[in-house]
Amino acid sequence: MNDPRVCLITGASRGLGAYLARRFWDQGYSLCLVASDCDRLQTSLSGLPVKKGQHAVALVCDLAQGDQVRQLIHRCADHVARMDVVINNAAILGPVGRFVDNNLDDWQKTLQVNMLAPITITQSYLSSGLSREGGVIINISGGGATSLRPNFSAYATAKTGLVRFSEIIAHEVKNRGIRVNCIAPGIMDTSMLQEIMVSGEELAGQREYANCVRVLQEGSPGMDKVGDLALFLTSPQSVGISGKIISAVWDTWWTWPQHLEELEERDLYTLRRVTARDKGLSWGDK
Ligand SMILES: NC(=O)c1ccc[n+]([C@@H]2O[C@H](COP(=O)([O-])OP(=O)(O)OC[C@H]3O[C@@H](n4cnc5c(N)ncnc54)[C@H](OP(=O)(O)O)[C@@H]3O)[C@@H](O)[C@H]2O)c1
Repeated sequence: MNDPRVCLITGASRGLGAYLARRFWDQGYSLCLVASDCDRLQTSLSGLPVKKGQHAVALVCDLAQGDQVRQLIHRCADHVARMDVVINNAAILGPVGRFVDNNLDDWQKTLQVNMLAPITITQSYLSSGLSREGGVIINISGGGATSLRPNFSAYATAKTGLVRFSEIIAHEVKNRGIRVNCIAPGIMDTSMLQEIMVSGEELAGQREYANCVRVLQEGSPGMDKVGDLALFLTSPQSVGISGKIISAVWDTWWTWPQHLEELEERDLYTLRRVTARDKGLSWGDK
């Protein structure tokens, strides 16, 4: 029997990360699960049903600490001989409220956890013996990467950087047969959402706050689609899809294998400058 495929998931102690851990475990993956809170991470790990031939290891790592992040992939190598999938999921909301009032240390920490940690993990992975042809990197994007998100400047800036980074790296590692994509999961009822509620309407802003209230009352689309998309991106069906930011909920990504040429040749599902011409305005033409 072949060794199981291995997946690293950061932020696997709760929320989306814990959900993805369970989905990948159910699909037969061995797991390296990462979070900073040891007890929560152990709880998440112990919730996985026992399975023969699969292994899950909990790696406590504070992604806000650059030196700990730099060691992470080396620590994984103590437990696994290969790594097929890396999911950079962990993130913090960072300072909420007008930028001018934000604490810059909190801002910097947000860039570290949400952008520099995934970047560091990506480089360690790509330069380690754990990466191989067919490897898949998935970076979880977030609100503000592709649209205006006032009062969440640190979070949105970090996520935007992560999306641009992913597209560039996807291009650079194409000849190694490694794919890099971002998933926009859509709004989910997790502790991050609760944090926005606690921040209150004044800091978060009326629209943002109302969105959270709506989700709490009506429910969110849930995480199933995010799990489906993540598994799709690790499957042979998605070979040829790389460098994209994909909405789990709104995009018909399961049809994309029929459109590989257009996805490859055009800048669809990427971050770009919108011009007047793009919007059909005549004065945009030269
Ligand atoms: N919730 C939403 O509506 C929403 C919408 C769009 C995108 N997203 C994105 O989806 C992803 C998952 O979000 P979520 O809602 O599941 O968030 P969450 O419930 O707040 O979970 C965040 C995870 O990140 C980990 N984490 C935070 N700081 C860390 C640190 N310094 N070191 C290591 N791990 C750390 C947490 O673990 P510990 O605290 O135990 O360390 C936890 O496991 C994030 O990338 C988020 O930006 C969320």
